[in-house]
This record gives sequence, C-alpha cells and structure tokens, in this order.
Amino acid sequence: MHSKYYQVASVDPSGRPKNRTMVFRGFLQGTQNLLSVTDLRSEKISEWQGDGKLHFEICWYFTGSREQYRVAGEVALISNSVKSSYQEFGEQTKTSLIKQQWSNLSDNAREPFYSSSPKAPFDDSSALPSPQDKPVISVNDTNEVDSNSNAASNITSSVVSNNVDISDNFCVIVFTPHTVDYLDLKSKPQQRCLYDIQDGWKERMVNP
Ligand SMILES: Cc1cc2nc3c(=O)[nH]c(=O)nc-3n(C[C@H](O)[C@H](O)[C@H](O)COP(=O)(O)O)c2cc1C
Repeated sequence: MHSKYYQVASVDPSGRPKNRTMVFRGFLQGTQNLLSVTDLRSEKISEWQGDGKLHFEICWYFTGSREQYRVAGEVALISNSVKSSYQEFGEQTKTSLIKQQWSNLSDNAREPFYSSSPKAPFDDSSALPSPQDKPVISVNDTNEVDSNSNAASNITSSVVSNNVDISDNFCVIVFTPHTVDYLDLKSKPQQRCLYDIQDGWKERMVNP
C-alpha cells in the first residue's frame, strides 16, 4: 500500500531543490519509464518545462523489503494543452495514454483539475463546483481506479472509454530513468548497487 508513493525532486529556476510526494501510476507500456499525473498549473510544471533536458530524481523506499531506489533521469510532460517533449511516440499513442490515465482516476481525484489553481489563496466560494455544475464525465466504471487502489495493475490495460471529458489541466508525466542507486538495508552486510541504464543495465557494487 505505501509503496505506491514516491518522492520526486526537481530544481527550481534559482537552483533550489524542490520535492513532493506523487503516486506511481505504473510503467509506460513496453518501457521502463515511470508514470505519474499532475495538474499543469502546479509549480513543478514550470520546473519541468522548457528547452533542453529536464531532470528528476525519485526516492522510493519499500518498507517491507527495506530497499531504497533513487532513480534519476529525464522528465517529459504529456498533455492535450502543451507541446510534448517526449519524442518516443506519435499523437495517437499520446492521446490514448492521456485517456487511459484520466479514466484511471476516481471522481474525487479528478475534482481538483476543475477547481481553482493550486497555491492560489483559498476562496471558500470558489472551492469546488457543485455536482450539477461539474462537466459530465462518463467513464467505463470497471476501468476506474480509485487513488487508494493499485493503479499499476491497470496501466497495461488499453481498454478506455472514448467518452471521457478530460480537463485541460490534466498532465501525464513520463520519468525516463538513466541511473538507479539501489540500497538494500536488510542484507548483511548492507548492499548498494549503482546502475547505469542508458546503454543496457550496467551494475557496479559499491559500499553503502
Ligand atoms: C500521498 C500523496 C500523494 C500525492 N500524489 C500526487 C500526485 O500523484 N501528483 C501530484 O501532482 N501531486 C501529488 N501530491 C501532492 C504533492 O505532494 C504536492 O503537494 C503538489 O503536487 C504540489 O507540488 P508542487 O508545488 O511542487 O507542484 C500527493 C501528496 C500526497 C501526500
């Protein structure tokens, strides 16, 4: 249950580190790239938008097995409202990824995408649209995943409703890993391995 959240770091334009918790939403089909979703109006987006390579580091701790993975690499944003920096697939794949990830969200998880901008001063009256004001969202219920269930198991499903009203603020983030720093606390002695995965998996065992 706890393992579906990781901490994701970025660097702001003044060079200061930023990090936040995000939900792991599975792997991009046929790749090792990790997926999360976010609101295009959130601050992290300005840190991950622009020319050139944009970087992330994920820190992911698995409580049961006492393993930590620090995964670093490049970020790409996939959204109906911004031009994508991700060159690996065409428009059709992009559209179906957005649809699939949107339909995996519960109504509750979708609501913030329609409400006031993240980090704007709180205004009681403009908080959330009432149910009758909300855009009509029709999704295949069997494919809907609540934010508290295992999103990863639904990632490879390509069955998505064609009748989904997707917020323009919705954004899928693709994290392409280049390196992994793995730490195993339960083995004796503890083990640390560094992986360079750009040219296949190159493994280097180092001291913890
Ligand atoms: C358990 C948990 C899960 C979260 N999952 C997400 C997520 O998947 N996507 C996201 O944008 N924010 C998520 N958040 C909120 C972020 O941690 C953060 O507060 C928000 O995105 C604003 O970050 P920013 O100002 O760096 O953009 C989550 C927070 C918690 C506590």
